[in-house]
Amino acid sequence: MDEAKVRIATDADWPAIWPIVEAVVRAGETYTWPRDLSEADARRLWMAAAPGRVLVAMDGDTVLGSAKITPNQMGPGAHVANGSFMVGPAARGRGVGRLLGQAALEHARQAGFRAMQFNAVVEVNVTAVTLWRSLGFDIIGTVPEAFDHPTAGLVGLHVMHRKL
Ligand SMILES: CC(C)(COP(=O)(O)OP(=O)(O)OC[C@H]1O[C@@H](n2cnc3c(N)ncnc32)[C@H](O)[C@@H]1OP(=O)(O)O)[C@@H](O)C(=O)NCCC(=O)NCCS
Repeated sequence: MDEAKVRIATDADWPAIWPIVEAVVRAGETYTWPRDLSEADARRLWMAAAPGRVLVAMDGDTVLGSAKITPNQMGPGAHVANGSFMVGPAARGRGVGRLLGQAALEHARQAGFRAMQFNAVVEVNVTAVTLWRSLGFDIIGTVPEAFDHPTAGLVGLHVMHRKL
């Protein structure tokens, strides 16, 4: 994906991020968020305040996808970052997720995090699992039957991790 560029998001980006988040949560296939999540709650969950950071992948003025980086735990666990990623359905499969993943790793590294962890990667989300493995993440373990997928039924949630 040559033309897309990643930058830090501001509050003014939310109206363009919301349709992407809405598509992902309504599908209910990849996030442990309520499928009927309101826009206000989605905004609170996604637009993380500092030290969290939100990124957007842009094609000109169009938001193609977004990433959120926050500490995965508080206090003595705050040196491990958590990352969340969503790409709009029409923009998937063109390298936007990879671009956001690379940018998130770089931002986390620069912010002083020592590692990045994903707490709940749905095991049948082949695109995500393949992408994260190719970016150096290992599957630490899988919580069995922890996700109720709309078509696959009860499937596992991977914890994925890589050092920075
Ligand atoms: C997961 C997601 C962020 C990936 O973004 P994307 O822009 O679609 O992914 P990319 O085009 O960058 O593809 C990245 C890699 O995924 C893999 N991939 C993409 N589509 C795939 C498919 N259909 N099957 C298997 N692997 C696939 C490939 O390894 C690809 O890398 P390569 O083409 O350079 O080899 C995006 O699909 C998405 O938002 N999905 C819904 C929400 C979600 O699952 N978020 C992540 C939760 S952990």
